Amino acid sequence: MFLNNKRLEIEGGKFLEGNINISGAKNSALVLMAASILSKGQINLFNVPQISDVLVMSKILIAMGMDIKSNANQLKIKTEKISPPSQDLFFDLFNSLRVSFFCIGPLLARFGKAKIPLPGGCLIGSRPIDEHINSLKKLGVIFKLKKNYLIAEVITPSKRLLGSSINFSCKSVGATETLIMAASLAKGKTILKNVAQEPEIIDLAKMLNLMGARILGAGSECITIEGVESLKGCDFRVMPDRIEAGTFLIAAAITRSKISLSQCEPNHLEEVIKKLELCGCKFKYSKNLITIIPNKILNSVNITTSPFPGFPTDLQAPFMALMTTAHGTSQIKESVFENRMHHVNELNSMGANISVKDNIATVVGVKKLEGRLVMGSDLRATAALAIAGLSADGKTIVKGLEYLERGYEDFSAKLQKIGAVISKK
Ligand code: UD1
Repeated sequence: MFLNNKRLEIEGGKFLEGNINISGAKNSALVLMAASILSKGQINLFNVPQISDVLVMSKILIAMGMDIKSNANQLKIKTEKISPPSQDLFFDLFNSLRVSFFCIGPLLARFGKAKIPLPGGCLIGSRPIDEHINSLKKLGVIFKLKKNYLIAEVITPSKRLLGSSINFSCKSVGATETLIMAASLAKGKTILKNVAQEPEIIDLAKMLNLMGARILGAGSECITIEGVESLKGCDFRVMPDRIEAGTFLIAAAITRSKISLSQCEPNHLEEVIKKLELCGCKFKYSKNLITIIPNKILNSVNITTSPFPGFPTDLQAPFMALMTTAHGTSQIKESVFENRMHHVNELNSMGANISVKDNIATVVGVKKLEGRLVMGSDLRATAALAIAGLSADGKTIVKGLEYLERGYEDFSAKLQKIGAVISKK
């Protein structure tokens, strides 16, 4: 990918103390931006994280003719002049951001056609799109593949998507979101069963309902959407990033430091907090504020990743970093993606004792990690290595800062503020 020499340098072994403000959720903001394609009026998004994935998504929408003005954490999105992407110049932009594929639902709903590059495979697994395709077919879409493009067209007599009943064969966040967006402007009622229940899906439904959509049941296993003729603009505040919050809780635990997180939503982190409590961390809560107080010695705990409300796959790598210095042996099973353990070799090079078989990592706790030069392989794996570096003896250099900057706003600045010795190079 785009790796150059950008890196993080960390002097490990420092205690952290203080408060971190949690940013808006990457996975929500990106989808809400895609959803703005559905709107005829202006969308004002607040609490948008300043991360490179948001920049790329803005470029994609601007290339479709939208007018986007950003000011700190606010995006003003005007959609009057939008047209569906067709030229090849979109290829590289779309291809560099998997979530851009989720534009297909809104494009089909608004224009009746879409031409989008196939999302490439990525390091964490093959990441198929069959659920998106098969369910859109049920709403009246046909697909053709030409070179690396997917060409989709609504073939109902009215050229408008037609509501339908869909039973997903797996819980996919992206496919659920694609169908919610598409069905919002379809003719008639759509019933979605076996949907993903992630909080980001509730955020999407909330914004679409503010725009005039009629969506019921987001957050449960069945969502009903009564299609409407058009959607209007709205003001919307992006939910807090639960994965960023979980990453910093784990950073506190691995450095055995008491810290607080503000502007976060503890209800989104129940399973993560439960596992951290089992390790020996205590928690205090006041409104939108969590304080974590870890014991000096933390115990090993087993985790299996699964769709929400289970343990999030996006925190598997950071949690594994934590387990490297816990007391005892932990088993970490990755059940969402088939190839998401690239951080294991790098953690082992820092002195961890991890072996992997059949997507289950066995982590035997060691006393201390040692600072090393390590290489991040994806967004969350890079965060995990940085967290390991915070607790390691000596200096850790984490290459792959570009990955981290895709999804964490001011990662190093937020940690510096609470006492970490960490800098971007
Ligand atoms: C979203 C998140 C990502 C997170 C993932 C799982 C965004 C922008 N990204 O990704 O951070 O790691 O959820 O929580 O929100 N699958 C299929 N067919 C499909 C679609 C998915 O088999 O058509 C499978 C995938 O291979 C995977 C599982 O379903 O094994 C979950 O993937 P999915 O929920 O779709 O992930 P994303 O929406 O891409």
